[in-house]
Amino acid sequence: MDLEGRIRYSEPLRNHTSFRVGGPCYAWYVPASVSAVAACSELCRKSRIPFYVFGGGSNILADDGGYKGVVINMASPRLKSISAEGTFVRVSASVEIGNFLDFLAKKGLAGAEFLAGIPGTVGGAIRTNAGTFDISGSRRWRHLGEILEEMEILDEGSRIRRIKASEVRFSYKKGPEGDIIILNAVFSLRRGSGPAIKRRMKEYIARKRETQDTAFASAGCVFKNPEGCPHSAGELIDRCGLKGYRVGGASISLKHANFIINEGKATSGDIKTLMEAVAEKVKSEFGIKLETELNLV
Ligand code: EPU
Repeated sequence: MDLEGRIRYSEPLRNHTSFRVGGPCYAWYVPASVSAVAACSELCRKSRIPFYVFGGGSNILADDGGYKGVVINMASPRLKSISAEGTFVRVSASVEIGNFLDFLAKKGLAGAEFLAGIPGTVGGAIRTNAGTFDISGSRRWRHLGEILEEMEILDEGSRIRRIKASEVRFSYKKGPEGDIIILNAVFSLRRGSGPAIKRRMKEYIARKRETQDTAFASAGCVFKNPEGCPHSAGELIDRCGLKGYRVGGASISLKHANFIINEGKATSGDIKTLMEAVAEKVKSEFGIKLETELNLV
């Protein structure tokens, strides 16, 4: 079994999460190849050691008590690759969204601009079916599933499999589920002009900067927008008057009420208590049950 790569024991997850919280994991594994990812996942499954597949760390609330298992860092530099063939782009799950988009702009490939400003890796973005409202103001929800052609994954038996995007039911904040590891993806784009693509990407980034608290440590939106409700989670929390409400070192952003900010010394407990308080208040005010979109580790 080939476990080539680097292992660090008791690595604090707060060093890797955008929330800047999270205690130590047993082992932080930076695999050097796809076969090493397969070997590690197989070893963990056989030995019944829990493992967590870590992308960019931007949608995670890691517990300060730590993670009693192996964290496989899919953002390993040794796993990164990207290439274009016509209007198709093959990219490894480990590549950051920002780098993927830089590549597309350079190649003059359009269609993925709506992903601009979304943090994390391509793999994480597929898992969560990352998306945003169209910049036109039409409130059309644009999501990664629209432009994905196919994926290469490791299945529950640590075997490489190819899956067509059409076989996956992509929905709001939901990509492929189950005990799989995304390795590579092929996206279908269209020809466009480099400067126009860059301009559109900048527009998406500017909108985020305007409406969201991008300057502070956070994990982006904490709650999903409730299905069938004309109001977003942020709007509901805002209407409860919770902006600026704090627990310990965590507070509700003054800019966007669906963002929880780590002011510097927040613990995972502060954030969880704040999340519970918010959900309770929204439930009692509007009778709506908010559901978190963060991965709790
Ligand atoms: N609003 C308020 N108060 C607030 C925040 C928002 O009244 O504090 C209002 C806004 O004025 C607007 C409406 O609520 O009328 C919706 O707000 P926004 O356009 O910011 O959209 P959102 O639904 O809160 C969603 C995604 C974001 C994504 C933006 C892009 C969810 C939960 N959030 O936010 O995703 O960046 O659209 O437009 O789906 C994330 O995934 O982490 C994330 C931040």
